[in-house]
Amino acid sequence: MRKVILAYSGGLDTACCVKWLSDRGFEVICFMADLGQPHDFAPAKKRAKVAGVSKIYIKDLRQEFIRDFIWPALKANAIYEEKYTLATALGRPLIAKYLVDVAHKEKAHYIAHGCTGKGNDQLRIEVSSMILDHKLEIIAPLRIWEFKTREEEIRYLAKHKIPIDVTKKKLYSIDENIWGISIECGVLEDPWREPPHNAYRLTASLASAKSKQVYLTIGFKAGVPVEINGKKYPASDLIKKLNAIAGAFGIGRTDLVENRLIGIKSREIYEAPAAHLLIAAHKEIESLVLDREVAHKKQKIALDYADIIYYGLWFTPQKKKLDNFINKTQKNVTGTVRLKLFKGGFYCVGRKSPYSLYKKELATYGKGDKFDHSKAKGFIKNWARPYLK
Ligand code: ARG
Repeated sequence: MRKVILAYSGGLDTACCVKWLSDRGFEVICFMADLGQPHDFAPAKKRAKVAGVSKIYIKDLRQEFIRDFIWPALKANAIYEEKYTLATALGRPLIAKYLVDVAHKEKAHYIAHGCTGKGNDQLRIEVSSMILDHKLEIIAPLRIWEFKTREEEIRYLAKHKIPIDVTKKKLYSIDENIWGISIECGVLEDPWREPPHNAYRLTASLASAKSKQVYLTIGFKAGVPVEINGKKYPASDLIKKLNAIAGAFGIGRTDLVENRLIGIKSREIYEAPAAHLLIAAHKEIESLVLDREVAHKKQKIALDYADIIYYGLWFTPQKKKLDNFINKTQKNVTGTVRLKLFKGGFYCVGRKSPYSLYKKELATYGKGDKFDHSKAKGFIKNWARPYLK
C-alpha cells in the first residue's frame, strides 16, 4: 500500500484529508507538531482514527523551534514588511523537516499537507521538503479535491461519521505557535474594516488593557534572551511569560496588507507580544555593542532575512550565509534592556552591556569631554572632497 505522511492539525481540512487520502488507497500516517500552540491532541487523534489513519506521530518541537528557528530570526531582527514577526512562516520548514524524517523512517514515498493553493504555507512546506529530499512526492488535497466550501467538507465528515466540533461558526482562519498568532479571513478580508475584538486572543484591547505602567528588564546573552527582571528562565517559559505580560497591555498587535509570494495581497492581523518586545530589546543591545558599519549592514540583512523566511527559503545556502554573518555579530550582544510598558505600547528606556562601545567621555557635552574638536574640520573637508568642484 502507498504510504503518505500527512501534516495533520486535527482541524476540519486535515481531518478530511485523512479520509480523502485513505479513500484513494493510501495508508495515511499523521504527523502532529507541538510548536507551543494551545492544543488538545485527544479529539484530533480520535478524529484521525475514525477517518482511517494507520499511525499518528505527535512530536514536541518547542525546544528545537525556539533554538533553531526563533532565535536565529530574533538575532536577525527579522520582520516582514515592517510588521509581521513571522511566527507561521518560521514553523513551516520545521514541520517539513519532520515530514521528511517520518517519511524516511516509515519508508513512505509521499507527503501531504492541508494548505490551500493560494497561500504561502504550501510553498514553504513543499520547497523545504523538496530541498531535504526531492524524491518525495507531495500531495496537496485542498488544491485538487472536489469540496468547494466548508459546508461540503462538514457534510463529507458527517457522512462518514467522523466526529468534528463545528457547532461554533468559524469566523477566522488562525495559525498559532509560541512566537505568535496569524489571523485571516472573514470580515478581515475588507482592509478598510477595523478588526473586531473577537478576532484577537492573545492581547487585551485598549479598553481592557492594564493601565498602570510597569518597568521590565530583559537580559540577553550572545544575542539570545535569558532573563526577565534579573531572573533566568528556560526559553519557552521566557517567551510565554513575555506573551502574558505584554499581552495584558495590548502590546504586539499588527494589522497588515501583505504581499504574498504567490502574487496576491492579503489583509491579516497578527499578535506577537513577546516577539515585539524581544526584537525591540535585542536591537537596543545591538545599538550599544555593534560598530556603525556592521549595525547598518545588519539593518539591510534584516530585510533579506525576513524575505527568506517568508518565501520559504529556510534550508538554502543564502540563509546559511546570512546566519554566518549574523552569528559573528552576536558575540557581544550581551546586556540588559529596560522597558516601560503602558496601555497599548512600550518604550525602551535604558540599556547596558559589558561590551558597550558607548564612551561617555567622547559623547558628553558636559564636563570631562575628551573629544578632539579640532580634528573635525579636516575630517569634514576630506569627507566632502569627492563632491567638490
Ligand atoms: N500570512 C501569514 C504567512 O504567510 C500567515 C498565514 C497563516 N495562516 C493562517 N491560517 N492564518 O506567514
